[in-house]
This record gives sequence, C-alpha cells and structure tokens, in this order.
Amino acid sequence: MGIWSLLPIACGTSAGDRQLPPYLDESVSLEERIEDAMKRMTLEEKIAVLHAQSKFSSRGVPRLGIPELWCTDGPHGIRAEGAWDEWRQAGWTNDSCTAFPALTCLTATWNPAMSALYGRSIGEEARYRDKDVLLGPGVNIYRTPLNGRNFEYMGEDPYLASRMVVPYVQEVQKNGVAACVKHFALNNQESSRHTTDVDVDDRALYEIYLPAFRAAVQEGGAWSVMGSYNLYRGEHGCHNRRLLCDILKGEWGFDGAVISDWGGTHNTEQAIANGLDLEFGTWTNGLSSGAKNAYDSYHLAFPYLDLLRRGVVSESDLDDKVRRVLRLNFRTAMNTRKPFGSLNSPEHLMAARQIACEGIVLLKNEGEILPINPSGVKKIAVIGENAVKMMTVGGGSSSLKARYECSPLEGIVKAVGDRVDVIYERGYIGGLSPMSDGVVAGYDLSESRTADELLVDALTAARTADVVLFFGGLNKNSHQDCEDSDRLSLSLPYDQDRLIRELAQVNRNLVVVNISGNAVSMPWIAEVPAVVQGWYLGSEAGYALSDVLFGKVNPSGKLPFTFPVHLEDNGAHATNSYMPGPGVNRYAEGLFVGYRWHEKQGVAPLFAFGHGLSYTTFEISDVRMDRDRLTKSGSLHLTARLTNTGERSGSEVVQLYIGDEKSSLPRPVKELKGFEKVTLNPGEERTVNFIITPDDLKYYDDEKHAWVVEPGRFTAHVGVSSADIRGTVAFYYDA
Ligand code: BGC
Repeated sequence: MGIWSLLPIACGTSAGDRQLPPYLDESVSLEERIEDAMKRMTLEEKIAVLHAQSKFSSRGVPRLGIPELWCTDGPHGIRAEGAWDEWRQAGWTNDSCTAFPALTCLTATWNPAMSALYGRSIGEEARYRDKDVLLGPGVNIYRTPLNGRNFEYMGEDPYLASRMVVPYVQEVQKNGVAACVKHFALNNQESSRHTTDVDVDDRALYEIYLPAFRAAVQEGGAWSVMGSYNLYRGEHGCHNRRLLCDILKGEWGFDGAVISDWGGTHNTEQAIANGLDLEFGTWTNGLSSGAKNAYDSYHLAFPYLDLLRRGVVSESDLDDKVRRVLRLNFRTAMNTRKPFGSLNSPEHLMAARQIACEGIVLLKNEGEILPINPSGVKKIAVIGENAVKMMTVGGGSSSLKARYECSPLEGIVKAVGDRVDVIYERGYIGGLSPMSDGVVAGYDLSESRTADELLVDALTAARTADVVLFFGGLNKNSHQDCEDSDRLSLSLPYDQDRLIRELAQVNRNLVVVNISGNAVSMPWIAEVPAVVQGWYLGSEAGYALSDVLFGKVNPSGKLPFTFPVHLEDNGAHATNSYMPGPGVNRYAEGLFVGYRWHEKQGVAPLFAFGHGLSYTTFEISDVRMDRDRLTKSGSLHLTARLTNTGERSGSEVVQLYIGDEKSSLPRPVKELKGFEKVTLNPGEERTVNFIITPDDLKYYDDEKHAWVVEPGRFTAHVGVSSADIRGTVAFYYDA
C-alpha cells in the first residue's frame, strides 16, 4: 500500500486516478506545495520536523512520503558516515571522499572560478553520498591569528570573503544539496565558544562581520544558515533575536532554515521566538534515560509541543518554522530532478589539485632559490613532521576520511624520481598518535629519539644536501588549528624556531614551507631565503606542493589575511580585547580588523594582506579613470595595464582598494573593493577594468542604521597587495 491510499480524498486526490497531490507535484509552485503539505500535517508531525532524530539527520513526514533530511560536514570534503547516536565513525567502507584544500587555501586563490569549481565538486560528492545539507562554508572573519578555526574560514576581508563564498554556495546548490553557511555570527574564536558574549559596535558588525553572510544569502541564495555557539548581546547565536529575526530574516529576507550548531540550543522559549528552525546536537545521554527517545527532549521537541498544547505559545512561530524546514526539504531531499553526483572522480581530484596549486602562496624568494631545478641538485633533505603527517584528519568536525592523501614527502619523491637522492628527517615531534578521528595516519609517528637527537640528525642531513625543504607549521591537534581550542601564541610550536635557525646556519639553501591555516611569527625570516605558505591542501597536498616547489606551476596565491610580526600588532590583541575566557568580550578594535588596523596604526606587517610572489614579474602601469567625478546614479570606469615583465607565464591578482579622504565617522585608510586574477605569457599585457559605483564608497552609519556615502574626495589605489600599491587616482563623489 503506497502513500496515495492514505491521502484524504477531500484534498482532491483520488486513489483511482493516482493524480499527484499538490505537495508532490513538481509543476506546482514551491510555496503552494509547502502550504498543501502544511495542511496535511498534524501538530506532532510539525514538531517532529523541527529537531534531530540522530546525530546528523532529522525526520521527514513518513506518512506523507516526505523524506528525512541528512546533513554532513563540511566544508572541505564529505565527512565519513557516523554512528546513529555517537560521534564515532560507523565504519563503512564506501564513504571515503576527496579532501579539498581548506577554505583559507581556496580564498588564497583570489579566484571566484576556483570557488565555483570547489562548490560544484564538493556538491557532487555530497549528492553521491546522499546528503541533503552540507554544513559549510564558513565565513567568520579572521579577527585574531589565535582562532583555532580560521583554517575553515575565508580570511579577514569582508569583500574578498563575499566574492569567494557566493560561487561556492551557488554551485553546491545546483546539485540539490543545501549549503549551510556558518557560523552566524561573530564566532571569531574557539576558546570559551559557548560562553563568550560578543559586544561589537554596529559599524564593525555591518561593515566587517556580516557582509559575507549577507552575500551568501542574498547573492548566493543559501538555503540554510547555521547559528553560532557564542552569545551576542546576551543571547546565544542559535536563538538570537537581533541576528536571526531582525537582520537575517528581516533585513535580508532570508527564506531558508536556521539550523542550530550541534549543541548550540539552550532555551526553549528563545528557540521558539528568536528564529531557530531546526535543532541539532543538543546534548542528551543518547537513548538511555529520560524520555523514551532522547531527541524528544530537545527544546524544539516535547518541550515545544507542551507549550503549544497548553496554549502558552501560538502556532504562528511554529508554522513559520515548519514552512522553512519544508522549503529546505523540498529544495533538497524532495527534489526529484537533482543529479546523482559522483565520488572521488578524476575530475574532483584534479579540482582539488588545481585549487591547491592556485592557493599556495610564495611569501619570500630571495636569490630566486625557487623553483628548484631537479636536474641541478643531487640530494634534497626533507625535514619536518609536516612532510609526513596526514592533515586531512584532526581539527574537529572538518576532519575527513580521504580516499588517499599524498604527503609532501611522497609528492617530492614522485616529482624527482630516481635522479635525486631524497633523505628525510623528522626534526621535531608534534604528535605521536598515528590515529585521529578513526583514521590511521599513513606514517608511523612513534619516536624513540630525544628532541636533541632529532635536531642533530636533522642538521646532519641538512649539511650534506644541496637544498633543504623544511615542512613545519601547525597541525590539527588541540591548540593548533583545531576546533574547540585556540592557539596559545603566534609562535610556531615544538621549538621549530630553533630548528629553523640551526638549519639556516648549516645550509643556506633552505626553503621553509609553513603548513597552517593561520599566521605564525617568523623571527628567523631574515636568515631564511625562501618561505612558502602551504595551508592544508587535502588529498593532493604533496603533488600540489611539489608542482610549485619544482616550478611545474608558477605560484599565484595571495594571502587572505595579514601576517603580523608580533601578536600585539593585530587589532584585537593591541587593544587587549581578545578574551579566551567566558564573559562579555568587547571588540575594542571596532572595524579596524586585519590590514585596516595595521594601516590605521602605521604598523608594518610581516606579510601584508594580498601579498604573494610569482616566479615571473609583473608591472602595473597607466592606472586611470574615465572621469574624476562620480554621481549618485553614475559609475566610474578605472583601468590599469598589467604586463608580465619576466620570463615565465604566470598569474597576478590586480587589487583595487578605495579610501575616503575625509568623513564624519572614522574610516579605514583604504578597503578592498575589487580584484581580478589575470594570466599572462612573458611580455604579454592586458588592461584590467573595474567599475566603481557609489555603493563602493559607503560606510555604515550606526545612528541612522543605514549605509551612507558622503560627498568629497576619494582615492583609488591599484596594487598587488594592501601594502604594495602601484598606482593611485583621486576622484570626487558629488551627491
Ligand atoms: C561545529 C559545526 C559542525 C557541527 C557538526 C559543531 O561542533 O561547530 O561547524 O558542522 O559540529 O559536526
């Protein structure tokens, strides 16, 4: 007996002619289908769709054939299948995925086409694994380099993050899989993430912390958003009236579902009234005690039903939530036209490698030590634990079970073949466990040598080599780049600074590859000729790194955040307003985040936002505008000529920043308002075009609660990083 026979005849369905009821008929509009389904649902069925039924799924309406919703992390690959009620993996053998580079690397490509490729590929993997909601991407702004989760986000600049998040969301959703943009909002640190209460002024909120979410919702059309763990103005992000009701659903017109972060719901009344739609992960003790099914104890389960039955709350909030969850369901699980997806296809692996190659950033290359010509060297010493440690595992919820991960050491050995002798020394111990999140790292990390012995062995290897490649940085252990804890300092852990300094003493041909999703201090920078930012690169890590180190690929990545020299050079730390403990955390630096702070204070960074070198050279010339006056409804056309003046083909990112010379409220010296990545052959040149409109000049006036633009003089800065401006043009805005 199918569901047809259960449908009420009164709703126009006859079992005889099997005419589809409106909610199942895809030729009927989405909103009519939702209303039709709503009419057929009992109160209990409505409640049942608003909360989890397992760690990662929620109930549909079985009686009506409305399927369950299945979520998955996100955001760098499709997480291994978990047990129904526990965090451990279920032990399936068909759930290993392609690990894509971390979102910091994606953002470092400064190439929205890479973001589209990423979204399309990960969306296809989600589909193949039959997931409906991908828990990502994350766009929390990089406020402090200590934040353990920065590697999952898109950097410090709201414009860059906005441009990069939109194609990711759009392409994921073309697969009939919802993106769930997280963590809304102000989840800028991991320490005390459930108890930190952010106090931020409205200018910083609207200008810095919200734009990427808004772009994901309004331009990307995101179907779901995840509330954050932290509090804002005394209410948790998962039931925060201002963030969810006033801004997200009110000002931005978001029509999708707000999903709680796992365990982020704390209060039934607030969850009902303040914008939460779908509750996941509220801590219960499984199925063992209390109500028959512990999920029934969730705030949006029996406690909500009880308040409704007693008439304490009305059904209007309920219907709004159910509508939103059904909308999410109809767009994903109920969509019968979605593609089937694919897993670990050669195209996905190629996409992972291409994104990794484009995101790697060449930070320093003195004496052009890079790229290494394999036929010019006989022996390469590879030093450092990160040359062998699997980085697709660990770090918290983004941990993956990748079908394979090519380590840097493997990539190098494969790239140079038998021609070159590659010797490996670990140099330091970052971790001894070969196991993380149920995945066994491919390399034996046990160690019997002392730290001093490891150092001596590393130096011995380095002395005899033609070139030394050091792979260090952070890892995905607690207090490194890892969820639920922040870093304890800007320094490299495990005494790596000492090791790097000593390596530089014994061999001048030293290349440091920093594997991390965060800035680190480099007190040895003057002693090391070449430094590469290697991120967490996913399945193809080793191949991508060797492509760049040996010059198969000319690097073109650009930093999505500033590397400060000292921690105190960062705005949150300079103002002493990074608070790892619980309580009210006032963001005293306001909107001066990242390069905005450095420029305001005149503090030079170690490496500036937007910085990244190439094996060729570029020149920017002829920066000009068609006119010098912009009016309310007009636009200006800015052009700049980019020339490849070196001997290799390569890509450069031309960056446009705009500064307001005088304004009623304080403003940053300049802010990113446009960028374009251009690939040129040696000697080739191209004109890059930017259109400037009044929107690019606006700031958020917190008194008026509006975006305003003031008449006056502005400057357009065109360059290759926030600190390397090659041309400027002044212009005026006339109201
Ligand atoms: C994380 C989310 C994640 C969820 C499910 C939470 O702890 O903050 O980002 O999607 O777990 O794994």
